[in-house]
Amino acid sequence: MKDVSITLPGRVRPRRLRRTPALRDLVAETRVTAAELIMPHFVLPTDNAEIPVSSMPGIHLHGIENLLRQIESDRKLGIRAVLLFGHPEEGTKSPDGAAAAAANGAVQRAVERLKREHGDELIVMTDVCLCAYTSHGHCGIVKDGYVDNDASLKPLVDAALSHARAGADVVAPSDMMDGRVGAIRDALDAHGFEHVALLSYAVKYASAYYGPFREAADSAPEHGDRKTYQMDCRNVREALRESELDTDEGADMLMVKPALAYLDVIRSVREISDLPLAAYNVSGEYSAVKAAAANGWLDEPAIVRENLIAIRRAGADQIITYHARDALSGGWL
Ligand code: PBG
Ligand code: ZN
Repeated sequence: MKDVSITLPGRVRPRRLRRTPALRDLVAETRVTAAELIMPHFVLPTDNAEIPVSSMPGIHLHGIENLLRQIESDRKLGIRAVLLFGHPEEGTKSPDGAAAAAANGAVQRAVERLKREHGDELIVMTDVCLCAYTSHGHCGIVKDGYVDNDASLKPLVDAALSHARAGADVVAPSDMMDGRVGAIRDALDAHGFEHVALLSYAVKYASAYYGPFREAADSAPEHGDRKTYQMDCRNVREALRESELDTDEGADMLMVKPALAYLDVIRSVREISDLPLAAYNVSGEYSAVKAAAANGWLDEPAIVRENLIAIRRAGADQIITYHARDALSGGWL
């Protein structure tokens, strides 16, 4: 065999800065800390209940008292922001989803209690949508089998106002109707809620990753799908357009959703916007990790850390994630 001479790297050796954990931490470009994590919660219109969501191990539907206890214990881990989803009173789903704006609804009552107990120490965000409250399960008003954009704005505005009245710090419309950010911003301002911030689900794709959530929120559409209002997963220029529109309409923060299958979209929006950008690490992304971990196929702490870092590295400032509690209590980050 011929003797092949090997060229050694010489002066430049990237491995020098990977030699110890402290050196690696020193040069790390991306960090995930408790301050930028947002924990989602499902609230029932009852005082005491704790019902596990079978497709989302570790996640429960909470009665209001249970929710308060859970959030109090999460705060000790450093979680300072929550995003609330509600269930309506039994038998109150209707075609126009009016229960979404009920002053004594689950979300409205939870917001009031949370703000009374935690004040400014806790950031209370609310999801603004109709799908958990409409009898047909769509995010807007259905007319002749089609979700009518403009007819959906008023009930969405009413829901957002009811959350603001209860004391929400941030309202987050997830319906994907055109013009709803402007309509909600104007109504908030007209009612003296100019301090309430608006986090827009600006870039929300029609995604199969929402499957487990629809069990948790009982919000699956009865007929059809959400493709006439949520975005097509083949598009990224459209994401920039949605972001620009919502920015012009007065959004304070933007969101890309889902996160992991859309890291390129997060990066693209990051590059054209100077607003804070959140990413939603959605239910299906969570459940897939949980299922693989339960089978011993993946190392859950390492996977969750890698996923959350990937979302931040792509350019997200905040991450909405069901992993928040486990990641912080387990010291996974
Ligand atoms: C409802 C809503 C959905 C999610 C957040 N708000 C589901 C949907 O649009 O069908 C998904 C969240 C998740 O999957 O974790 N507008
Ligand atoms: Zn919806």
